[in-house]
Amino acid sequence: NKVVLAYSGGLDTSVIVPWLRENYGCEVVCFTADVGQGTGETEGLEAKAKASGASQLFIKDLKEEFVRDYVFPCVRAGAVYERKYLLGTSMARPVIAKAMVDVAKEVGADAVAHGCTGKGNDQVRFELAFFALNPKLHVVAPWREWDIRGREDAIEYAKKHNVPVPVTKKSIYSRDRNLWHLSHEGDILENPENEPKKDMYLMSLDPEDAPDKPEYLEIGIEAGIPISYNGNHLSPANLLATLNEIGGRHGIGRIDMVENRLVGMKSRGVYETPGGTILTTAVRELESLTLDRETMQLKDTLAIKYAELVYAGRWFDPLKESLDAFMEKVTSTTTGSVILKLYKGSVSVTSRKSPFSLYREDISSFEEGSGIYNQGDAAGFIRLYGLPIRVRAMQQQNL
Ligand code: ARG
Ligand code: SIN
Repeated sequence: NKVVLAYSGGLDTSVIVPWLRENYGCEVVCFTADVGQGTGETEGLEAKAKASGASQLFIKDLKEEFVRDYVFPCVRAGAVYERKYLLGTSMARPVIAKAMVDVAKEVGADAVAHGCTGKGNDQVRFELAFFALNPKLHVVAPWREWDIRGREDAIEYAKKHNVPVPVTKKSIYSRDRNLWHLSHEGDILENPENEPKKDMYLMSLDPEDAPDKPEYLEIGIEAGIPISYNGNHLSPANLLATLNEIGGRHGIGRIDMVENRLVGMKSRGVYETPGGTILTTAVRELESLTLDRETMQLKDTLAIKYAELVYAGRWFDPLKESLDAFMEKVTSTTTGSVILKLYKGSVSVTSRKSPFSLYREDISSFEEGSGIYNQGDAAGFIRLYGLPIRVRAMQQQNL
């Protein structure tokens, strides 16, 4: 009779601790994952969790695992949801859920709990991951059960149960941050006609205020996975953190969109993904050298499905895992480097090279070349390639 709670130290999860004890009569073990959500958030957290009534707090640094095993496979796949969203929140939920399942095993808990609302995607992502990794665990989602409705209710509940109300000022936005991205939802954003306020953004400079001088950046890639910038090889998490800084100061990676949530409703979100935008662009550009036409087309088609599955919380799902196998194979020669130019919010490519490049200057050049390509061959090719078009025109014109 123990539950592992995904705990942040904010007001909502602080209130969940006494609520679980009161309503389920169970011991509450808190769990906090460090996926790069930001500074100082883990300090004093244990005392806080215990003051709320938790028996203990586990903190795990998941940053490298997150970027290596969750973020980079999505980069390799080219996963983009509904034309724009780089899936930052979606990729973080399975790594957190997996760590919670491990903690549950370690402490002998039979249940897990999370603080997601009943209206969003995150509840689905957590729970599908729990199902996949330990189908025997009970799942408790207080937001779907209790009658605490807003901040005032929560503060009142905390006071009644002698739980210190967190002093951290709650932002007006619903935000989720990790090493890959920062999301903003709620408040004025809920009207899709409203332009976000300049001071909302936290990871990136306004492109209007970015340097007037462009910055060139070389990204090294091995088999579809980013490995270096400007020749510096860094660990996945360090590479991403560095690129966030570089991209952020050039205003790279701001996305404003209306997306379709899994639970049916539309929702307006604004995302900052500076390093992620750089990496996604780099891999895509390198593929222009390493993939042939039909392979690239199929990869792009499957990338849409891949993104959909990740968005929908189906990380540990046989279909998604099979697509990973495809993505791994198809990018096995996507190795090389790309030079990007960052300038006031834009990322453009200026150079690409790969030892597996399928580009042949001697074939493609307008100059007379190797003799592999014979212009005379084109005449017969066009006649056969155009045969169905010709036949249809003959039929239409009674020829
Ligand atoms: N709409 C995005 C997604 O579904 C972001 C969700 C942010 N989650 C949060 N708890 N604030 O992936
Ligand atoms: C939530 O409902 O907890 C956040 C939004 C989402 O999951 O999409």
